[in-house]
Amino acid sequence: MPKILFAASEAHPFIKTGGLADVAGALPIALQNLGCDMRVVLPAYGDVLKQYKSLKTIAEFYLPGTVGKIGIRATQLNRSKVKALFIDYPAAFARKGNPYVDEHGNPWPDNAERFALFCKVIQLIALDQARLDWKPDLIHCNDWHSALVPALLKQIPSAPPSLFTIHNLAYQGLFPQSTFSTLGLPSTLWAPHALEFHGQLSFIKGGLVFADRINTVSAQYAKEIQTPALGYGLEGLLQHRHHVLSGIVNGIDNSVWNPQTDKLISQNYTSTTLSKKKINKLALQELYKLPANKDALLLGFIGRLVEQKGIDLIIELLKSIKHLPIQFCLLGTGDKLYQQALAHIAKQNPEQISFNIGYSEKLAHQIEAGVDMFLMPSRFEPCGLNQLYSLRYGTVPIVHNVGGLADTVIDTTPETIKNNTATGFVFNQPTVTALRQSINRALEIYGEPKTWKKLVKNGMKTEFTWDKSAKDYLHLYQEILKTQNTKYKTI
Ligand code: ADP
Ligand code: GLC
Repeated sequence: MPKILFAASEAHPFIKTGGLADVAGALPIALQNLGCDMRVVLPAYGDVLKQYKSLKTIAEFYLPGTVGKIGIRATQLNRSKVKALFIDYPAAFARKGNPYVDEHGNPWPDNAERFALFCKVIQLIALDQARLDWKPDLIHCNDWHSALVPALLKQIPSAPPSLFTIHNLAYQGLFPQSTFSTLGLPSTLWAPHALEFHGQLSFIKGGLVFADRINTVSAQYAKEIQTPALGYGLEGLLQHRHHVLSGIVNGIDNSVWNPQTDKLISQNYTSTTLSKKKINKLALQELYKLPANKDALLLGFIGRLVEQKGIDLIIELLKSIKHLPIQFCLLGTGDKLYQQALAHIAKQNPEQISFNIGYSEKLAHQIEAGVDMFLMPSRFEPCGLNQLYSLRYGTVPIVHNVGGLADTVIDTTPETIKNNTATGFVFNQPTVTALRQSINRALEIYGEPKTWKKLVKNGMKTEFTWDKSAKDYLHLYQEILKTQNTKYKTI
């Protein structure tokens, strides 16, 4: 079974800003369970060092061009057999707060240097030059923060191959040309067929151009990024590499997201004790200071308050719900303008709208368990995890027909109700009108308790497990390694 180094800029429970952390905290364990020898590598952020004081330093070395030693600290990932390796270089990583942005939401000014260093150390580990006495067979990189690794490895004939996973093509790691010359990268990488993107340095191109295989987190998103609408100018490159590009949908970490065992919610329940879900609804209404009402259709949203998530569509919709038996609660962080707009509408309609700005793992679980429906009108969504958590928690998702949302939620129609496949409400245009129409459809079905229960149960039965997706990743690893071996034989 292969030895895999899994590189990510965040992993639950150590550090999380979004879905990548959920993936990096769970997929390596599922792969280890299939027999792979997995190690996850992350930066040692200040918040991680503060919270995990017992991280052991297992190696130290110097990197040319860097002042002082670089350390590698280690612990187990979620008490599994997977080792989590933390690259300890305080000048780059040990600052307080978010991994990517300062307290005003601006990217850290030295992000290019920080993540180039991350990539260079991963390269050393890949080549067994980091005093770990372990040489991976393959490096699995995720998003732009580790995307220089495939480019660096391709400069060395004996280096292991790589897989690059795109979790979100909207974030590319773009920096001015002048930055390129300060990073000490091979000068041949400054070219349009390498890291240059319209005169800028593009980290993500390192993965897109040089990785042996590329995948995205849903099959639908893999198609969408090959079009001008969602390709961000990289669609030509992705079309060119379509023969090595595929999609594997994310899964759910059953030990974290399971209404039967979840310790963060008021009342555990299963699909056979569904009436208990109402207890979570009442608890949530109390938390959010909404009137206790088990009959109102309680809608929820958790996520980054950014354009991608269609939060503006939700805000617009909420302006016209006064006459409807609806309540809404939100948990999120992000754009100040959306925060202000939310404050404004909630003040005008406190009986129906309530929101919480901040990051809270506990509240996220309470929302998934407590609401009746979850809104995801994302303009694009590579996979999306909250619709999967919603399905598992008997919370019906309302989603835009895009990316992973399209691949995981089945619209409610007379036919899908009849054949027991309906799991949510899917709308085709990212507009307020389309969102409103699907909420109206949902209200109708909510008024037919028997059909609603069917919908909820269908969703709870769906199987988006990491075990299944990990098998697809293992298959991909094996294909890469097979190609690599054949290549050597023919040289
Ligand atoms: P993305 O990665 O684009 O942000 P995903 O749906 O893939 O979207 O994953 C988001 C993850 O982050 C989910 O686990 C979600 O519950 C969590 N999350 C997002 N915002 C918050 C928040 N403010 N508080 C707690 N959890 C959050
Ligand atoms: C990204 C995407 C999201 C996906 C997550 C994990 O942040 O926006 O759709 O679920 O990565 O793959």
